[in-house]
Amino acid sequence: MRENPSLIPGAAEEVLRYRFTASMDRTVTEDTDIFGPLMKKGDIIIAWISSANRDESHFANADQFDITRKNSRDHLTFGNGEHFCLGAPLARLETQIALSSFIRRFPSICFAPDFRPEEHLLKHGFTLNSLPIMIEQS
Ligand code: HEM
Repeated sequence: MRENPSLIPGAAEEVLRYRFTASMDRTVTEDTDIFGPLMKKGDIIIAWISSANRDESHFANADQFDITRKNSRDHLTFGNGEHFCLGAPLARLETQIALSSFIRRFPSICFAPDFRPEEHLLKHGFTLNSLPIMIEQS
């Protein structure tokens, strides 16, 4: 990203795809078996967006973090349809600005010694709780 800043927007999308906690719930408004099992009016269903974001039929090698992935922007982290996140353009812009400023400010950024991602995950296992890093001031 430092050598080729044009990778930054794709990197931001890949982070949103790869490590975002997103499950959304919906309340069933009428009895239906639209997806197979019977769902009754008033039932609550939970859509695991993080799981959709790792769908192998849409994202090749979905469990691999790849900032050059061509379709990473297809993730569902901002939802879909009529309730699609109104703040998505702002969130995307902020993420890109933050990433590029951080890279510009520090010439060297690396993981803290002995960093193991699995020790820094939230309970559900998708999202990092913390990311210990070491930086060098310019
Ligand atoms: C990375 C940051 C963000 C993520 C992952 C995110 C995610 C989401 C998701 C998944 C939804 C859809 C919820 C649903 O369908 O039930 C949503 C809706 C919404 N988001 Fe965001 N959001 C982010 C940042 C923002 C920001 C910065 C703003 C405002 C400045 C914002 C404002 C909204 C609003 C107003 C809605 C409701 C849209 C509607 O119901 O029509 N979001 N967001």
